[in-house]
Amino acid sequence: MSTRTFKQNHLLGIEPLSVEEIDTILDTAEAFIEVSTRDVKKVPALKGKTVVNLFFENSTRTRSSFEIAAKRLSADLINFNASVSSTKKGESLKDTVLTLEAMNPHVIVIRHSASGAPRYLTTFARSAIVNAGDGFHAHPTQALLDALTMRQRFGTLRGLKIAIVGDILHSRVARSNLALHSKMGNEVVLVGPPSLVPQEFERMGGKVCWDLRRGVAGADVVMMLRVQEERGARNYFPSTREYRNRFAITPEVFSLAKEGAILMHPGPINRDVEIDTFLADSDQSVILQQVTNGIAVRMAVLYLLKGEKNEALD
Ligand code: CP
Repeated sequence: MSTRTFKQNHLLGIEPLSVEEIDTILDTAEAFIEVSTRDVKKVPALKGKTVVNLFFENSTRTRSSFEIAAKRLSADLINFNASVSSTKKGESLKDTVLTLEAMNPHVIVIRHSASGAPRYLTTFARSAIVNAGDGFHAHPTQALLDALTMRQRFGTLRGLKIAIVGDILHSRVARSNLALHSKMGNEVVLVGPPSLVPQEFERMGGKVCWDLRRGVAGADVVMMLRVQEERGARNYFPSTREYRNRFAITPEVFSLAKEGAILMHPGPINRDVEIDTFLADSDQSVILQQVTNGIAVRMAVLYLLKGEKNEALD
């Protein structure tokens, strides 16, 4: 397994990664998929290393996926639960992290509602920092697991048309996918109402489209996003029924995509709001494959940052 092309000390976003580093993460993840099919799903690559899962926002997929990834690499894991921690007594983020660092971890995986929180940690922490989602800003491991899922299906990550549909404005998933596929030279169409898909996104390399059918037509990938009510998105359109009528993906709309197209969603999904429930459970949907791939991608990231390279697949 080649790790020579991975030079990062942290994973804060997609932007600092070269195309070669993205390919290295995905190639490494492919190798770890094999590990996850073994009876004993463990390798010693992070034996003796400690990973802290520091989640200040809710999570089902990312948190458990990093936990499984760390355990499959034989790392010790601390799951920090913000709701029962001393942050509730007024402890600052910096003091919380300094306290945890006094226990000598090697990697801190952080999810935080504040964009830029992971980068802030790098200004004083000694550990490798991994961004598990910060505000509207970035969710790099989600974009990487999405990319792995696309590469598995199409055999390549080049020359694809990807329609990302929904609440682009509040979406770190959209921003990280846009960054990744702009580097790969793929066409990314951002679809939704003007209030949630401002024209300014064209400056980041996406094509803005306010019509669902036109945006989905001919796409290899249709990636649906949740309306993020916790970030106030519900105030950006008149009613859920109107949103659903104009921007929910249905079998009829999905049929406009290219033959063999896949339907993606980072989760959690809102059935029958942005996604028709029949389609969510259909053969075209790769939503659960995305979840499975998340473990391999997160194993790859932890391994490339802190693993004993020659022991990874022993
Ligand atoms: N896709 C994603 O980040 O899901 P969670 O919020 O459940 O981690």
